[in-house]
Amino acid sequence: MKKLSARRRHPLAAVVVLLLALAATGGLYTAFAPASKAKADESAQSLTIEEGKKLYEVGCASCHGAGGQGTTDGPSLVGVGAAAVDFQVGTGRMPAQQPGAQVPRKKVIYTQAEIDQLAAYIASLGAGPSVPTKNQYSPEGADIAKGGELFRTNCAQCHNFTGKGGALTHGKFAPDLEGVQPKHIYEAMQTGPQNMPSFPDTVMPEKAKKDIIGYLNAVNSDQTKNPGGLELGGLGPVSEGLFAWIFGLGALVVVAVWVAARTAKAKKS
Ligand code: HEC
Ligand code: HEC
Repeated sequence: MKKLSARRRHPLAAVVVLLLALAATGGLYTAFAPASKAKADESAQSLTIEEGKKLYEVGCASCHGAGGQGTTDGPSLVGVGAAAVDFQVGTGRMPAQQPGAQVPRKKVIYTQAEIDQLAAYIASLGAGPSVPTKNQYSPEGADIAKGGELFRTNCAQCHNFTGKGGALTHGKFAPDLEGVQPKHIYEAMQTGPQNMPSFPDTVMPEKAKKDIIGYLNAVNSDQTKNPGGLELGGLGPVSEGLFAWIFGLGALVVVAVWVAARTAKAKKS
């Protein structure tokens, strides 16, 4: 008994206890701190998904089914990914209204925060393309000439040479691309809405998508819009050909009439 209390009062005892306590708190901290942070992130994410699910049940489930499996009024959304939702809802196409050949752009009715929640919920149903980052879709650093080349080979057959759009068969159409946000252009290429083919990264790498966005940004911005003279609608060879046809031929007719009138006069005198 005496021995023990004597040892307890050993001059080094306090130091040993202090060191042990420090080691224990340090160990406990490293063991629990990151875990609880990850847990917080996880619960924030599941809260976002939960909110998205609520919005989905009210605004989308009637056509796309309770679990996104699809109905006769709308396709399955399992695996379409967050990018498809951000595009469809962010351009006002969804929620669709009346049936028609093609669901058009409309006024956007959800806030971006709500769109993010809907996207998180749909993404939780099955893996698909995620929403691109600003770095990916920003036209900054794009090669505009290369983008123009890529646009003419991949997109112009439907959207026209400068993205003015055009009619397709059965009442469908490729829309005018002027004023479409870079993020939505990127997502359209990723997801291929309705009659548009998709251009996944394996077919069209990230940099090529950026170049196309850079090109569209350049043809639609004011300084470069009409480098010379009057705009003919930018509709390519048809309107420009028509211009040459009417004015060029018109001028020839005027000259022919003038020559004929002069020769007639010369013969008379
Ligand atoms: C009136 C019925 C209707 C409602 C309501 C509706 N959709 Fe749709 N949705 C459709 C139809 C039809 C299509 C297929 C045509 C198309 O791609 O635009 C579609 C397509 C989509 C696509 C594209 C799928 C793909 O394969 O890329 C997404 C994403 C989508 N809807 C999300 C939503 C979300 C989110 C809501 C709720 C905010 C919603 N929809 C509400 C009918 C509807
Ligand atoms: C086969 C014809 C076709 C081709 C090729 C095509 N598109 Fe489309 N595109 C469409 C159609 C049709 C739509 C309308 C889809 C919709 O409303 O859901 C569309 C929609 C878009 C939109 C959405 C515009 C808006 O108003 O929100 C963008 C952006 C777009 N296309 C970009 C491109 C780019 C860039 C390429 C080339 C890499 C391309 N498209 C190739 C047919 C095409």
